[in-house]
Amino acid sequence: MATLLMCPPTHYRIEYEINPWMSRLRGTEASLAEAQWRHLRDVLAGPCEAALELIEPRPGLPDLVFTANAGLIVGRRVVLSRFRFPVRSGEEPVFREWFAAHGFKVVELPEDVFFEGAGDALFCGEHLFCGYHFRSEIRSHDLIARLLGRRILSLQLTDPRFYHLDTCFCPLKAGQAMYYPAAFDDYGRRVLTANIDDLIEVTEPDALQFGCNAVCVDDQVVLPAGCTQLVGELCGRGYRVHPVNLSEYLKSGGAAKCLTLRLD
Ligand code: ARG
Repeated sequence: MATLLMCPPTHYRIEYEINPWMSRLRGTEASLAEAQWRHLRDVLAGPCEAALELIEPRPGLPDLVFTANAGLIVGRRVVLSRFRFPVRSGEEPVFREWFAAHGFKVVELPEDVFFEGAGDALFCGEHLFCGYHFRSEIRSHDLIARLLGRRILSLQLTDPRFYHLDTCFCPLKAGQAMYYPAAFDDYGRRVLTANIDDLIEVTEPDALQFGCNAVCVDDQVVLPAGCTQLVGELCGRGYRVHPVNLSEYLKSGGAAKCLTLRLD
């Protein structure tokens, strides 16, 4: 059974601007954000049959809702994130404490090495793909590969709108994934095509609706509403697709996947 970590959006809002989607002039509507988050949670717990764990929201940490950035889970170990922007680094002790209290062995990188967890590190079958440039640093990949004793396939991100790997790449079943090609350089595209048999190309309009920021649990895919072409591609491959309106989270540069962290 899939287990996902989420954080209720009690203190979620746009308090600062650290990616091109965020503007303090375009605030979120708290009650709508709350309803959209509950809808996402209910689809994950209902049709997707995922078990959910919740971390308590904290005032002053509006982006704590994006639990994908807590760390990278490998078995019962977690490589804790080191956030690039100080406005998010207050989340580190909160996540550290939660993982320790829930039986995870917390592994930490040196203090000056940026790494933003499952936002930039995704397993596709046995392959571990890690993004770098806007948030995580490439030197984190080397350290993590050594810590975990496994190979990492590094991918440079080239478009600031797709600043985390999970905004432009989404593993599905083993050997299958979707990606937005223009968010990578030639080398990155080659690494992906060489290592994944069935790579679904996401169109620019769907990518801008955060279509790659989807949660896949077995044959169910939960993605932000409005990704018309992608829904067809996924249904054609036998997935059950659940679009959820996440407009208030797109304003912060996040969607379904960022709001969850797979713990199993
Ligand atoms: N506002 C957050 C940030 O810029 C959004 C994080 C989205 N998380 C993700 N895994 N893509 O850090």
